[in-house]
Amino acid sequence: MPVLLLLNGPNLNLLGTREPDIYGARTLSDIETDARAFAEARGYELMTKQSNHEGDLVDALHEARTTVAGVVFNAGAYTHTSIALHDAIAGISLPVIELHLSNVHAREEFRHHSMLARACLGVIAGFGASGYQLALDALIQHLESKP
Ligand code: DQA
Repeated sequence: MPVLLLLNGPNLNLLGTREPDIYGARTLSDIETDARAFAEARGYELMTKQSNHEGDLVDALHEARTTVAGVVFNAGAYTHTSIALHDAIAGISLPVIELHLSNVHAREEFRHHSMLARACLGVIAGFGASGYQLALDALIQHLESKP
């Protein structure tokens, strides 16, 4: 089975209790369980990782380079600040989908810019926890459209 990586960045370990009016009631573990089932039903194994540390996320992307077919990445607040994560995504030649639970464009100005988007295949934002499945679906469609 080909492998996909679901990578989550800072503060996403607090999902379920963190600002539930913005991010919803589902925990990261709930989201990962559903995402794994969704991926497996489509014939893909799903690896999951969460870290609050920028360098760990860079390392996870580097490791993914030789082990997975594509990545769904919610980089949390590092989305808006991290040149290092932009460069890691650009450097691994893998399709990466940037994902956000909330519609970052309808929120504070500082969330409107993504440092990562130009290195990513596409961006999904604003659909809550179901965005993870939308992103996996888009990634799988992309992988399966390649000869
Ligand atoms: C987020 C949006 C970011 O702006 C924020 O810093 C997060 C979560 C989202 O999933 O909506 O931590 O990536």
